Amino acid sequence: MKVKFLDLKKQYSLLKNEIDPAVQAVFAEADFIKGAEVKKFEENFAAYCGAGHCISCGNGTDALTTLLKVHDFPSGSEVILPANTFVATAEAVLSNGLKPVFADISEDFTILPESVESLINANTCAIIAVHLYGHPADMDSLKGIAEKYGLRLFEDAAQAHGAAYRGKKAGTLADGAGFSFYPGKVLGAAGDAGAIVLNDEKLAEKSRKFCNHGRTQKYFHEFAGINSRMDTLQAAVLNIKLKHLDEWIAARNAVAKSYIGQLSDVSEIVLPEIHPETSDAWHLFVIKTEKRDELKEYLKSCDIETGIHYPLSLPEQPVFANHIDYCAGYRAVRESHSLLSLPIGEHLSEDEILHVVGKIKSFFCKR
Ligand SMILES: Cc1ncc(COP(=O)(O)O)c(C=O)c1O
Repeated sequence: MKVKFLDLKKQYSLLKNEIDPAVQAVFAEADFIKGAEVKKFEENFAAYCGAGHCISCGNGTDALTTLLKVHDFPSGSEVILPANTFVATAEAVLSNGLKPVFADISEDFTILPESVESLINANTCAIIAVHLYGHPADMDSLKGIAEKYGLRLFEDAAQAHGAAYRGKKAGTLADGAGFSFYPGKVLGAAGDAGAIVLNDEKLAEKSRKFCNHGRTQKYFHEFAGINSRMDTLQAAVLNIKLKHLDEWIAARNAVAKSYIGQLSDVSEIVLPEIHPETSDAWHLFVIKTEKRDELKEYLKSCDIETGIHYPLSLPEQPVFANHIDYCAGYRAVRESHSLLSLPIGEHLSEDEILHVVGKIKSFFCKR
């Protein structure tokens, strides 16, 4: 039995009857940039999140970049972000002429509030909480810190569509959020796409202009922006997929519960926990084990696909080597070699989950 990590072909085959006519309609209208579907998606996604505004853009990296840009932080100001995240969180900081400062993570993989507070100084302007793997960060503690020091708090919600913290959806938990609709995400487009989600009308307007050459209307430019617009084709696909998001998240939750229930007696692995204050989107199901590489190889030999998110924490990456000194003792650095992402998603059958569980158990029994 082959168990896929992600199965976008299967997803397409189930949605083909909806997606094909929607894509054809975009071609028929030749309505490729900022078409009707884009406006519709912005309204739909803002309503889904419970936020005032959704501004679509080209990808999640641009969404985070824009979110920082429209706040006009003084050049060289520091932004605190978690040491374990996708590189884009830090790139958005750098591309704004700001300085990334890495905080450690807690057991649940999200940014550790105590570590954040220890890194704050007069140059700090903002904190980015990453809801990594679809699990919301400890927003109450982070909000408390942001308020105490007068800092902005942003969400990198690239992996957290539909996740919630104390009943409020990701995208509405701080001063603004960046989403990615990269195809492999829980809500994924058929190419690159992203969105900024926030409540402040002025910042929403500024973000909209920034992503469209700083323009107020065709050929009139108020400031220098970028070209980062969501294609109408992507919006057409996302409008369809958004209708299925809750059912997909429910399926992911069922897989996560099943893994947790069935693997809890395997002492060699640390499982992610289900937290009462969060409702997770389970973009990824990440376990920790000292035998990570051997287990990954073994599962591969059994035709079970797995992933590693991420092989190195950011301070271990060559590009951020000048940060490793203060991060050397971090959990994020210690544990990066032990992370393994198991298959999760609505594509998995119960038999496939049982198969993955069985193979993991047989791997540890042999040792
Ligand atoms: C945590 C995180 N932040 C930012 C991004 C950037 O999104 P994109 O790939 O759409 O630019 C991603 C997506 O890969 C991500 O996982």
